[in-house]
Amino acid sequence: MGRTFDFTLTATDGRARTGVIDTPRGAIRTPAFMPVGTAATVKAMLPESVAATGADILLGNTYHLMLRPTAERIARLGGLHGFMNWDRPILTDSGGFQVMSLAELRKLTEEGVTFRSHIDGSRHMLTPERSMEIQRLLGSDIVMCFDECPALPADRDRIADSMELSMRWAARSKAAFGDRPGHALFGIQQGGLEEDLRKASAEALVDIGFDGYAVGGLAVGEGQEAMFACLDYAPEQLPQDKPRYLMGVGKPDDIVGAVKRGIDMMDCVLPSRSGRTGQAWTRRGQVNIKNARHADDPRPLDEACACPACRSYSRAYLHHVFRAGEMISGMLLTWHNLHYYQDLMGRMRDAISSGEFNAFEREFHAEREAGDI
Ligand code: GUN
Ligand code: ZN
Repeated sequence: MGRTFDFTLTATDGRARTGVIDTPRGAIRTPAFMPVGTAATVKAMLPESVAATGADILLGNTYHLMLRPTAERIARLGGLHGFMNWDRPILTDSGGFQVMSLAELRKLTEEGVTFRSHIDGSRHMLTPERSMEIQRLLGSDIVMCFDECPALPADRDRIADSMELSMRWAARSKAAFGDRPGHALFGIQQGGLEEDLRKASAEALVDIGFDGYAVGGLAVGEGQEAMFACLDYAPEQLPQDKPRYLMGVGKPDDIVGAVKRGIDMMDCVLPSRSGRTGQAWTRRGQVNIKNARHADDPRPLDEACACPACRSYSRAYLHHVFRAGEMISGMLLTWHNLHYYQDLMGRMRDAISSGEFNAFEREFHAEREAGDI
């Protein structure tokens, strides 16, 4: 196993980039989509099935794992990779963002955040130092800085204060992370939809120095148009030679627009979560398998898809098992959705490599506009 963490850009097309992140646990092809494995599982999927969809890396969550089963227990059992049977890279989010959306009785100070668990009401504190300790106990390959982010819309003063606090926390995160060869620490840019605040945030992070840089604080209710307007400048404010990670995004068209604007990594619960609620994503847009029009349809969900749900099952079967509340419903639709997302990433990587990203993007939108068959 090598000891280094490196990012190599292999091609660019406009602002879109493709490359590879080398880690001791294997390579991550970029642009990369990271399935979300919040509670040490990508829900409804075996890890080998997640790997079979083409995922090079998973996302795990400090917030959920610190509460249950606890980072200390996972460390005693040998770390998150062995615990969940996933030996490829894992990126962990730092907890601040999840505390703000999930925990109860939150109290934010310069030191950190105190809160009550949404599971059992127990009291906890997260600070930059504690978040770095938890992510180290988990054995995370890519560790995220502890940050804070206001829901949008928020007024400029609130966004500026919050961004500045996150930058002080970024410096504390870096100091607490220390020197860990083979492990990476990513900074998180904040600043809402304010270009100058985003710029100030980028400069503060670059001064501290990170292995990669995330664009945080987006996809929090601002809508796609506003998010793209921000992505028209935010990625370019970050270093060219480090991975850029857009946190918590998104729908397939969000992902294509983000890659076009220079993003290298993304994560979202959407393909896995919507699989469990009967929503499928295909080249032809969204398909609701609950719909009665599928009840007698012997065709696969997507003729062009090579996943097990499309290779071996009809729409009629997928409709039936969803209606019957059978567990295989969530398993097959999640597998299909993750396969579709990874296939989309692969097509974008190929298009960027061959300088055909614009043609890819036109085709992507044309197929969706044609609608489901
Ligand atoms: N997930 C989605 N957005 C964010 C963000 O701004 N910060 C963190 N830590 N996680 C996120
Ligand atoms: Zn499929």
